[in-house]
Amino acid sequence: MDREHFEITGLGGRMTLEGILPVRGAKNSVLKALAASIIFDDPLKIENVPDIEDVGRVCEMLEFAGATVTRKSAGASICVVPAQTWKSELNPTIAGKLRASVVLTGPLLARAGEVRFPFPGGCVLGERPIDLFLLGFQAMGCDIQEAGDQFIIRTARGLTGGYIFFPLVSVTATETLMLAAVLAEGETVLANAAMEPEIALLADFLNLCGAHIEGAGTPTIRIQGHAGALLTARGRAFLTPPDRIETGTFILLAALAGKDIRIEKCQPAHLGALLSVLARAGVNLETGSNHITVRGKPGYRNLSVRTHEYPGFPTDLQAPMAVFMTQAEGEATLLETIFDGRFRYADDLIRMGADITIMNPHRILVRGPRKLVRKELESPDLRAGLAYVMAASIAEGTSIINNAYVIDRGYEHI
Ligand code: UD1
Repeated sequence: MDREHFEITGLGGRMTLEGILPVRGAKNSVLKALAASIIFDDPLKIENVPDIEDVGRVCEMLEFAGATVTRKSAGASICVVPAQTWKSELNPTIAGKLRASVVLTGPLLARAGEVRFPFPGGCVLGERPIDLFLLGFQAMGCDIQEAGDQFIIRTARGLTGGYIFFPLVSVTATETLMLAAVLAEGETVLANAAMEPEIALLADFLNLCGAHIEGAGTPTIRIQGHAGALLTARGRAFLTPPDRIETGTFILLAALAGKDIRIEKCQPAHLGALLSVLARAGVNLETGSNHITVRGKPGYRNLSVRTHEYPGFPTDLQAPMAVFMTQAEGEATLLETIFDGRFRYADDLIRMGADITIMNPHRILVRGPRKLVRKELESPDLRAGLAYVMAASIAEGTSIINNAYVIDRGYEHI
């Protein structure tokens, strides 16, 4: 779907939404499971796949590299049949636009002994370098060359295990090197690794299929490499977990506009940072093992938040949180510690009536509550785009959100 804009008539502050919202499969999990199919000897089935642009793009990348990909039942299930011979190149048209494409470099390198790719694209968030990936590949015995805007990474005699300390915690670098290490010769240690639940889940699945990964979900992951021996799914399917960020956004929207909303097919246990701040702000939350009920009410307290790697407050919920803060009483700050350039939405919220001071590129001050009014907006990136959908939904009047394509990239039929 290549939608141009959303037109949203807001509730003007009324809390009238009622019903059930099921959460879809997690974008940031399914894309990595697709990449993992490259280290399998047999077809890999992936279930609960969200129908979003990024999934389609990664499937095209797998096909470009030689795999056969089939999608069933409106895209909810995907089967990847591995290539006989993998091409050692990432589809350059897609790789330049999609950050997650970089995850394919690890498995392709392990299979083909070489991988070529342009600098990966994605949401325009600060610089988004790839030095941590390169550092990891070097520690695993690779030679790295830059030719024009292309990177060429080669292993002379296959990947070898190594000790990799990440100076910064990176989700995709952790996943990419974990996948590469499964086929390397000997032990790889990933230290200061990202701890996202999606990483632990992927590792658990790979272990069921023959990998030896210990410690995923903690800062130190140890992988005993198979020296090229491939994993086998033997009919097992990877079940994509619910999207934590979509869940969190639904909770925030329900708190602002919901009379009684039940969010289903989610994992509240993975949203501790958000739930604790909302409970302290006065939001009425009823939490089960796989559902959350939110009953909105006026008069929330504003509380300061800083983003942090998992299990801290997710940077991907930072913009939706800012919208919540415009409606809570008092002033509080929002500190972004992971990315540069993630407050580009603030000016638009100010145009809608929010009282926000941009203190520096990493911190904003939000005073609430303020009534928001309709505006025509340009979605700057996926997560900020969703914050605009939230803001428009609670504002007075009909707002237009242009560049809706970037929102469809990550959220199914939002
Ligand atoms: C992933 C998520 C994204 C989320 C982010 C942080 C996917 C597809 N995307 O992105 O939704 O916002 O985690 O939770 O899973 N960095 C470097 N060098 C590198 C790699 C990263 O300096 O080689 C820096 C980044 O610029 C950033 C920080 O490390 O400041 C964390 O980024 P990272 O965790 O890598 O984000 P992504 O994995 O791209």
